[in-house]
Amino acid sequence: MESDELIRRITAVREELGDTLLILGHHYQQDQVVEHTDLRGDSYQLSQMAASSDTCRTIVFCGVHFMAETADILANRPEKLESRNGERVRVILPDMAAGCSMADMAAIDQVEAAWEDMSDVIDTDRVIPVTYINSAASLKAFCGKHGGIVCTSSNARAVLEWAFDRGDRVFFFPDQHLGRNTALGMGITEQQMPVWDPYQLELGGNDERAIEDSRVILWKGHCSVHQMFRPEHVAQFRQRYPGIKILVHPECPREVNDLADVSGSTGLIIRTVKESPAGTKWAIGTELHLVNRLKAEHPEQEIHFLSPVICMCATMYRIDLPHLCWSLENLREGTPVNTIEVSEEVAKWSLVALERMLAVK
Ligand code: 13P
Ligand code: SF4
Repeated sequence: MESDELIRRITAVREELGDTLLILGHHYQQDQVVEHTDLRGDSYQLSQMAASSDTCRTIVFCGVHFMAETADILANRPEKLESRNGERVRVILPDMAAGCSMADMAAIDQVEAAWEDMSDVIDTDRVIPVTYINSAASLKAFCGKHGGIVCTSSNARAVLEWAFDRGDRVFFFPDQHLGRNTALGMGITEQQMPVWDPYQLELGGNDERAIEDSRVILWKGHCSVHQMFRPEHVAQFRQRYPGIKILVHPECPREVNDLADVSGSTGLIIRTVKESPAGTKWAIGTELHLVNRLKAEHPEQEIHFLSPVICMCATMYRIDLPHLCWSLENLREGTPVNTIEVSEEVAKWSLVALERMLAVK
């Protein structure tokens, strides 16, 4: 089907369903999809939007699987369900293959096994588990049950401070880079941050001393998109464009993050560019669709993509007009597809960890 036809059909369903339908979109979505979203945001803003939705009965999430799970948990938390006399908000992910490769790097049985293992060496009652929101709901539930919390890239530091007010150490998963970059900014040293490799048999590949001396135990996970930005790219841009500013997402490796002028969530990246004077030069290290959109929206500034190779989130990209149209038309016909529903027990404990996050200022 041609794009014009898809757009016409998507628009028709949106008009018909009115404010009972909320289409949320992450900043990494392709422009064609972004045009059909009601609200757009970074992971933190999107969870707030899902948590505060009042009129909608369906959220179509143009993002990835963990975001749709989070929306389901927050939109259907007990007080919201009560206010709707038990009626659930349905959350739909237009393509079930839109996952997150980083989230897939930590499975609940691996995290539980690691927790058990480290309890041979340290007192896990004094360890606060922190999961990046880019994780399965089961990991959020693990944090809820064990006095832990969820973080996003926009509040990671405040969340780590919250955790250190309550324990001696943090077990941070699945993104080692966000955990390391944030903790380094708080004065914790690399030596105090052993990396836990779930595929190593003994203590995630560490000796007892490393775990005993740790302040933050980092899970060996990463984002395949952000690991493509390298320190030599920063050096090349600085040499070729004197005065250029480097703006990156904290999922980038330490070597890149340390060289950047500004590091922050997708929301912060957008705000930083918006608020800068005309003529500012940027090399931006985050997903390609967002950087291209910023380039188009800010012709008064000079915006470059920080890597010479294409770094795009292939799973986000799976959400396209045909999938959006298909899921919306099925919804209207009463044959909804791709509904994301987190089991009651997992949702209950995930909510504990998510509400702690939403309460952190
Ligand atoms: P934000 O939390 O900055 O939106 O990032 C989400 C993400 O998946 C980045 O890779
Ligand atoms: Fe996951 Fe990386 Fe894609 Fe973000 S950019 S959704 S962390 S794979």
